[in-house]
Parts: sequence; C-alpha cells; structure tokens
Amino acid sequence: MQNKTIETKISIYKFNELNSDQQVLINKAKEQVLNAYAPYSGFDVGAAILLDNGEIVTGSNQENSAYPSGLCAERVAMFYANSQYPNVSVKSIAIAAYTNGKFLPEPITPCGSCRQVLLETEMRFKKNIEILLYGTKKIFKIENAVQLLPLCFEKKSLQM
Ligand code: THU
Repeated sequence: MQNKTIETKISIYKFNELNSDQQVLINKAKEQVLNAYAPYSGFDVGAAILLDNGEIVTGSNQENSAYPSGLCAERVAMFYANSQYPNVSVKSIAIAAYTNGKFLPEPITPCGSCRQVLLETEMRFKKNIEILLYGTKKIFKIENAVQLLPLCFEKKSLQM
C-alpha cells in the first residue's frame, strides 16, 4: 500500500499587495455583482476574466425558478469569453460575492462544475489560468485550475 498526498498552493494577499492588473480585475468582479440575478439565493456573484489579448469579459450568476437552469457567474463569464474569443487564451479570473448588504469577508471559491469548466479552458489553451478569489479580509491567489481540481477528469481521460 502507498499513500499519496496532493497539496494545493494558495497565496494570501491584501488588496494593495496585488499588481494593477489584478486590482482592476477584482474591481470588475465586484462591480458585476450588481448585474447578478439571484432572487432565490440572495447571493450575488461577479466574475471578471482577463484574456491574453487584454480584453476583460465579465459575468454574474443568473438564477431561474427552475433552479438547475441557473448558472454561476464563473461559467457565464467563461462561456461568454470562449464563445466571443474562441482563439484567445484566458490569463486570469477574479470572483467576488455579495450577500446581506456586504461583500463576503472570506474569499468565495468556485463550485465543482465551475472548476471543471475553468480546467477545460486551461487545458484547451495549454495555459495556466490564475484564479483570484476576493474576500474583504483577504484575497486568495491560486496559480491554475488544476490546483483547484486535482485528480481531474479531462480530455485525455477519454483516450481520444
Ligand atoms: N454561485 C456562483 O455564481 N459562483 C460560485 O462560485 C458559487 C455559487 C451562485 C450560484 C447561485 O446562483 C448562488 O451563487 C448560490 O449558490
């Protein structure tokens, strides 16, 4: 029997320790919570994606009375980016959440389905996607999507 331990590296920042690209992206994600449609959860999420051509694409969570038909902010933004710019890789994504009249103090982390979608884009362009998770007390920086989804199912798992 052997054991294997997989570690995830998380760098913890204060806002003013980030570079200007990162600060801009977080501010865009924070602005996006205003566009969330979340009447069922009251949990407004914003995502902002910096593409390698310098464009920023944003998204917010969009809920539905048929609950599973809704979509998280990260996937709204990522699918929009990939459909509008199918040949452009993604440099980074920032995510922020707002509920009960304030941004969350702790960073919000993407759900499993969003992690899978981030991973697909990372693998598709063979380029790490930096992930910035905003909280008012601290910001997590994760260097790529694989860190968030170890032991992942991916294209090569299909043995195509
Ligand atoms: N949500 C996101 O948009 N992103 C996340 O990372 C976590 C959850 C949304 C889905 C749903 O509209 C609401 O937040 C509550 O789960």
